[in-house]
Amino acid sequence: MEDIVALRLEETLRRYPKSRSSLIPVIQDAQSILGYLPREALLKVADYLGVPASAVYGVATFYAQFHLTPRGRHQVKVCQGTACHVRGGRSVLEAVKTELGIGPGETTADRKFTLERVACVGSCSLAPVVLVDDRIHGSMTPEKFRKLTQVSAAKERARHRVFRIRMVFKIPAADTPLFKKNAACAGKVIPETAPYSFTGLRQV
Ligand code: FES
Repeated sequence: MEDIVALRLEETLRRYPKSRSSLIPVIQDAQSILGYLPREALLKVADYLGVPASAVYGVATFYAQFHLTPRGRHQVKVCQGTACHVRGGRSVLEAVKTELGIGPGETTADRKFTLERVACVGSCSLAPVVLVDDRIHGSMTPEKFRKLTQVSAAKERARHRVFRIRMVFKIPAADTPLFKKNAACAGKVIPETAPYSFTGLRQV
């Protein structure tokens, strides 16, 4: 665990009384800081609250909301309830597993997707259903899911492109007051301490 994360966890712990009744809210907070619950964090919680590590581990493994392994940036949930099952949910799950290269409960190596198998999510009329980050995609087919992942990959690439475009800086123009004040910077690579202006969005 990085120092800064460990510090945040310690600060969070200090907000709770040292009692067993704090266990669930403390674990919830630890997970929201770390994204999941590594062994180290569970031991810290046990130590702070003065409860056995086995009790902390027992709670963390009992509730489905807690995760002991790192999660992906996107949560893919494939419904296997009755309505989805009879309308091809099983073949959708197989296609999702093949497309992502992981099984239920696993996360892709690039930490992009975590796959889960869920029971009825209350949208049986749209069966078979897949949820991606809690957004429902109904009447799912293996082909539709493949398209969905391609769109998601394209969006992610576009986000990175925008970030690169935003990092455009320039030496102040020669006729601006800012340049006149710092004429020594003209035509040079911007040194760390030199003043610079943000050009806004510009295609590079
Ligand atoms: S069974 Fe899948 S949404 Fe109800």
